[in-house]
Amino acid sequence: MPDELYADPRLAALYDAWNGGRWDVEYYLGLARVLEARRVVDVGCGTGTLAIELAGHADHVTGVDPAAGMLHAARAKPGANGVSWVRGTAADLPEGGFDLAVMTGHVAQVFVTEEQWAATLGQLAGAVAAGGVLAFETRNPAAQAWRDWTPEGSRSEVVIAGQRVESWHEVTEVGDDTVSFTTHHLFGTDPVEHVESRSTLAFRDLPTLERTLEAAGFSVETVHGDWDGSPFTDASPEIIVGARRG
Ligand SMILES: C[S@@+](CC[C@H](N)C(=O)[O-])C[C@H]1O[C@@H](n2cnc3c(N)ncnc32)[C@H](O)[C@@H]1O
Repeated sequence: MPDELYADPRLAALYDAWNGGRWDVEYYLGLARVLEARRVVDVGCGTGTLAIELAGHADHVTGVDPAAGMLHAARAKPGANGVSWVRGTAADLPEGGFDLAVMTGHVAQVFVTEEQWAATLGQLAGAVAAGGVLAFETRNPAAQAWRDWTPEGSRSEVVIAGQRVESWHEVTEVGDDTVSFTTHHLFGTDPVEHVESRSTLAFRDLPTLERTLEAAGFSVETVHGDWDGSPFTDASPEIIVGARRG
C-alpha cells in the first residue's frame, strides 16, 4: 500500500514541483549507458521522470508503481509513450526480463520491515537476468537527514494550477532503523484546506544492505556516497549501490 503522499492525485501533482534539480537522473542514465542495458525497469517509478529519460537510451523501459496518482502524472508527460507503465510492484515483473533494475528517489526506504525488504529483493532477483544489475540509493543513516525534517527546516511553497500550496514535514518518531513523519499541506488561501500524509521510512546501513543483497543473490560491485560518483564514506549523504545478479 503506497502512503497517501503518492496515492492522492493532488499530492502526486506536487511531487515534481518539490523535486526539481535531479542529479540522480543523470547518474542512473550514465549507468544505463555504461552497462549498455537494453531492457530496463524503474521500480517505484513515481511520476516517471527517470523512466521517460531512459526510454531515449534503451530498447524497452518499464515503469512500475503501485500509486495511481503518480502513474497518472507519469502518463501525462511528453515522452510517456516510450515507456510501458505497470500499476504494481516488483512482484508483477516478468522473470529474467531486465538487464538493469533501478529504484530511485529513495524508493528502497519505503520497504520498512526486513520481511518487506527481503521479499522485494527476492522479486528483483527474479526480474533481473543473470549477470544483470540492480542499482538504487538509500539515505545514509549516519547523516541523519531527518534532523532537517522540521517545520522550520522543511517549509516550502509552490503554486500549482494557480493554487498556492504550503508544505512542511514533522518527524513523529525516530526508531532504531526507521523514521516516521507527517507531511502537512495547506491548499489555497481562503478557505485553506489542511491535508496530512503520514510516512515511515527505513534507514539501512551499508553492512545491512550488503548482507541482504547477498542473501537475495546479488553481489555489491559499486558503492558511491553522492551523485558526483564520489566514494562512500561515513559522512556521505547517500549510499548508492550497484549490485550484480549472480
Ligand atoms: C519518493 S517516490 C520516488 C519516485 C521516483 N522513483 C522518483 O525518483 O521520482 C517513492 C515511490 O515509491 C512508490 N512505492 C511505494 N510502495 C512501493 C512498492 N511496494 N513497490 C514499488 N514502489 C512503491 C510510491 O508509490 C512512490 O511513487
